Amino acid sequence: MATPIVYKKADIDADPARAEYKTILPAQRSRTPKAPNIHTAKQQTNTHNQPEQNRLGMFPQFHQRNTQLNLADLQHQMCKLILDGKLGLAPVPSPKHVLDVATGTGIWALEYAKNNPQANVIGTDLFTMQPATAAPNVSFVRQDVEKEEWNYPHPFDYIHLRYIVSCFDDAQSVFRKAHAALRPGGYIEIFDLVLHPRYSGDKRGPALDKWCSAVCAAATREGRDLRKAERYKQWLEEIGFVDVVDVEMMLPGNAWSEDDKIKEIGALLVQVQPGPLLTLGTYFGARGLSGVLDGLAPEMMRDMEDESIHLCWPM
Ligand SMILES: C[S@@+](CC[C@H](N)C(=O)[O-])C[C@H]1O[C@@H](n2cnc3c(N)ncnc32)[C@H](O)[C@@H]1O
Repeated sequence: MATPIVYKKADIDADPARAEYKTILPAQRSRTPKAPNIHTAKQQTNTHNQPEQNRLGMFPQFHQRNTQLNLADLQHQMCKLILDGKLGLAPVPSPKHVLDVATGTGIWALEYAKNNPQANVIGTDLFTMQPATAAPNVSFVRQDVEKEEWNYPHPFDYIHLRYIVSCFDDAQSVFRKAHAALRPGGYIEIFDLVLHPRYSGDKRGPALDKWCSAVCAAATREGRDLRKAERYKQWLEEIGFVDVVDVEMMLPGNAWSEDDKIKEIGALLVQVQPGPLLTLGTYFGARGLSGVLDGLAPEMMRDMEDESIHLCWPM
């Protein structure tokens, strides 16, 4: 899996015709402004309608509360480790209005709100699996962010999305909504993965390669490109974001590294990554891939855990 982190910033004084982007790791420079379409409609409220079953996508386990909680906790821990303890890289000073799109369990939104008591944080998701007793400056909204309008009474300073690769039919439409919902100079930050194993060294994981290739090809046939995070920067620029920064990291797929921190990230990643890969196999196994993936799961898992294979996932 590759996880590209893309983060874009658009500045004040926007010239709607200009767009610049920034990448995460280097310090951002602020620049071109874009004029957002500020929505003045009412804030969304939570409803109790169940989302359509077909919106569950390829990772139904993300929608099963217990599994989601375990996976989300580990992923969150890993993401913070990758970002040196930070929740994001966008240089947003004292944000007032923050939106976490597809918030899942709300773990990021809750921690961000705790660390930024001046901010009002809204987390949106198809499901209401977030804790009922949240901090006073966090609220959760059940919303299909792709199919429903975003109607908020204020523009946002910062919009955050994490692990959304399997979520949307049309991710660009979600990014366009984010662009419209940001204030001039506001930031979007996307932390996502690319499902493409890489290797540091000659030894490869043949079963893992086969599994990922088959699953990615099947997903693409269904209009879900699991490597699309590689195109986020281009998409953001086309939409009109400025100063877009695309930070690509290669993370170890297990604890093969000798560096303590990298090893720790790998030790978390090898716990987090198999679930989604197995789920994708199950999903597509029932949709024409069974002949390709049958019997391959144990070998694929062994490849992922084998520390003599220097597996990397781009992030
Ligand atoms: C892998 S989880 C990521 C959770 C969270 N961002 C995190 O990093 O902890 C993906 C989330 O996207 C949500 N999701 C998928 N499609 C969505 C949509 N159209 N509108 C809102 N949420 C959606 C799912 O319900 C799920 O909670």
